Amino acid sequence: MRRGSFVVFEGIDASGKSTQARRVAELRDAHFTFEPGDTPLGVDLRRWVLDAATPMTPITEALLMLADRSHHVRTVIEPTLATGRSVVSDRYFASTLAYQGYGRGVDLARLEAATELAIGGCLPDLTVLIDTPLDVANERRAPDVRDRFESADLDFHQRVRGGYLAIAAKWGNRWCVIDGSRSESEVAASVDERLASLPW
Ligand code: ADP
Ligand code: TYD
Repeated sequence: MRRGSFVVFEGIDASGKSTQARRVAELRDAHFTFEPGDTPLGVDLRRWVLDAATPMTPITEALLMLADRSHHVRTVIEPTLATGRSVVSDRYFASTLAYQGYGRGVDLARLEAATELAIGGCLPDLTVLIDTPLDVANERRAPDVRDRFESADLDFHQRVRGGYLAIAAKWGNRWCVIDGSRSESEVAASVDERLASLPW
């Protein structure tokens, strides 16, 4: 049986990526999933890693994200792809490179090596970066309680955005960068145009 397609949406907080990821999954009858936290073990990992009141080092933060991802790949992503169904994930390995690597300053080469260990060759067929300037994303953000990342300063989020663009440039045609500052329907049209050539 043909393996399903694996598509990932990435971007800074409130870039609009979850809106697009959920829409695409529904449209294509693909399995929607997200990181961190979309497994029973991941629920606890997510609670720890997002809790702004629990101090932790950047390396601990990275290792918790990688633990969540390793479990997610083995128990959700790979088994679903093996049935022939496609998977759309809201965040994947580039989130760790962008947030813990570019954002927090964890050594990128070591993070890449740890990522290989965690994902064991399960690479997305396409990663869509919804690239949205910080001021636009901030206006979209709900004014609720801030988690560990939402409470980080502006410079951190600028480094994350720049990191994503650097990662996208490195991966070439396995990534596409979509201007997320436009209306929801304009962003959707660009996403659909890019996804049209993928087998589902
Ligand atoms: P993310 O997953 O990147 O954190 P969401 O998709 O949850 O972001 O979007 C954050 C908020 O912005 C939501 O209220 C959503 O409805 C809204 N939103 C999403 N895309 C757009 C867009 N292109 N223009 C305006 N608002 C948007
Ligand atoms: P979430 O509420 O899921 O936010 P979003 O809708 O923006 O995806 O929170 C996930 C947070 O965790 C988000 O701020 C990004 C961060 N994160 C990392 O720092 N590293 C990672 O590897 C992942 C998967 C997420």
